[in-house]
Amino acid sequence: MTIDIFPAKEGQGRIHGMREYQQTYEAAQRDPNAFWDRVAQRLTWFHPYHTVREGDFTDGSVNWFSGGRLNVSFNCLDRHLKTRAEKTAIIWEADNPADTQHISYKQLHREVCRMANVLLAHGVRKGDRVCIYLPMVPELAYTMLACCRIGAIHSVVFAGFSADSLRDRILDCGARVIVTANEGLRGGRVLPLKQICDRACEGLAKLDSVLVVRRTEADTPMVEGRDHWLHEAMKAQRAYCPAEWMHAEDPLFILYTSGSTGKPKGVLHTSGGYLTYASYTHETVFGYRENDIYFCAADIGWITGHSYIIYGPLANGATTIMFESTPMFPNPDRYWDIVERHGVNIFYTAPTAIRALAAKGDQWLEGRDLSSLRVLGTVGEPINPEAWQWYYDKVGGGRCSIVDTWWQTETGGMMITPIVGANPVKPGSATLPFFGVEPILVNEHGERLDGNDVTGHLCIAKPWPSMARTIWGDHERYLHTYFSTYPGYYFTGDGCRRDEHGNYWITGRVDDVLNVSGHRLGTAEIEASINSAELVAESAVVGFPHAIKGTGIFAYVVLQADAESSDHDVVSFSVREQVTRDISKIARPDEVLIVSGLPKTRSGKIMRRILRKIAEHEYEKLGNLTTLADPNVVEHIVEAHHENC
Ligand code: PRX
Repeated sequence: MTIDIFPAKEGQGRIHGMREYQQTYEAAQRDPNAFWDRVAQRLTWFHPYHTVREGDFTDGSVNWFSGGRLNVSFNCLDRHLKTRAEKTAIIWEADNPADTQHISYKQLHREVCRMANVLLAHGVRKGDRVCIYLPMVPELAYTMLACCRIGAIHSVVFAGFSADSLRDRILDCGARVIVTANEGLRGGRVLPLKQICDRACEGLAKLDSVLVVRRTEADTPMVEGRDHWLHEAMKAQRAYCPAEWMHAEDPLFILYTSGSTGKPKGVLHTSGGYLTYASYTHETVFGYRENDIYFCAADIGWITGHSYIIYGPLANGATTIMFESTPMFPNPDRYWDIVERHGVNIFYTAPTAIRALAAKGDQWLEGRDLSSLRVLGTVGEPINPEAWQWYYDKVGGGRCSIVDTWWQTETGGMMITPIVGANPVKPGSATLPFFGVEPILVNEHGERLDGNDVTGHLCIAKPWPSMARTIWGDHERYLHTYFSTYPGYYFTGDGCRRDEHGNYWITGRVDDVLNVSGHRLGTAEIEASINSAELVAESAVVGFPHAIKGTGIFAYVVLQADAESSDHDVVSFSVREQVTRDISKIARPDEVLIVSGLPKTRSGKIMRRILRKIAEHEYEKLGNLTTLADPNVVEHIVEAHHENC
């Protein structure tokens, strides 16, 4: 397909055309401190900062707005009460479309205060960690904002994660209090969250309290002295709780994400810089306007939900939709039903959802009034031009701006993205850097690739306010992961092309991280789980192109010597079950192929390049096999793949 250029829809945004984009970008380059000083005025500071930025990437220690005091929950709630008390802050769209709830800023403020008092009553103090294992219910927002109100650090764990994953995260951050729900409801199905949580908490000595949201009426066994119904605890508290004066660099939250090695790492974000950047990008990139209805369809268990369902929109006094269900429930027109019923103006989702909905056919859009839409966003993975075009034509009716926003858990906010009303857009390209962001490409020797029409590894040359400050409990790993590969630069882990016009095209991860349906998964984690399944000797996991998920998971599995050939089907099944149990359904391999051995170098390193090519059926492009310890292994794998896949 030929890729057209779509001119900016001028007047739809806050930045008017490329000239203003360039002028603003250059101003931020010329004097970053003056630029961010101006932007940070959008927040309410209890006490002014004395320095805009300290430190750089040479020693990986960066502070923003030092000396400043603020409270993130005050910025998201209290300061709106004068002018927006009755305005809807959150529209909660429950699993059942009939169960909508509008929560005003005033109500949200009261609930957050009550929740903050509950946490205080359970001994939570400034700097303590609170683990949140909740589905998309209003109490999730209450708890996050209550944590920042009293200076506690939240760690939200996606409600699709297994008991083991939850336990690892609780232990790693040392949470003493967990907030969960008796059950979750998603797509008409029930998630036994309290049961999973109970398994995760078995024998945890340091755990004080489990606060339980009653989402359903199901009978729920409660552990005497440890478990408490949240609605009862909240009823007992008054709706007033002063906001702590936090330092700009005080931790705000931990969010775990997968890397190329080891266990998931707890990415730490801090207060002042994060909120400045999340709110500024939310307003600027989407061209947000005061009375817009804003719908980000992500789950708050991921960074997109943190920055662009909760913190960015609420800091801007927006009406943000929190959606408990799936795009397919009860039918594949649920998003369009929401857009129509609530009059959504800005809609933000992942390419995988767009592809899945496009595959269901255009009839699900017919008759829907989507005329309120002005801006459509995507995030999480590269969007293929076909899906982009469908989104533009069928959902946006050709009227809407599309912003393909590239960023990461670690970046806290959007980094390379079109800005509504400014950039001409090419489907599939995240276009240009946001203000204050300096992307550079380097080759494998770490040499900077200047000029256009180049491809390399994507790095960022200068600090920005919402960058992660450390990995919880492991600063060494932080320095090693992000700043040691290309000294002086932040390394993103992504490959990227800068085209002849200077637009950026993300080509995907260059490390052992997979991006499956926009979810980030480490191959090492999945392999560790597979290797623990019965009869498995070893395994290797690679990604392969998948029509809906973007990337699917392909597992090559070697059985123990005493396994019978009749065990193959049993092992394939048990491998999938094992991964679901250990990590989550989202990490379950799409394909499991039993092979006699793995292609390894003489030093024992698995050559994934070869396995990727085989998974893609590109048998002729396996490249040089002479460095393999046993080149015959490849022939056997190709045969097995040919026969079975
Ligand atoms: O590979 C990039 C891809 O998602 C990775 C970050 O994943 P995570 O930390 O889970 O955050 C996702 C939501 C911000 C990146 O390293 N990615 C994210 N957005 C895009 C993307 N790839 C291409 N285009 C995007 N717009």
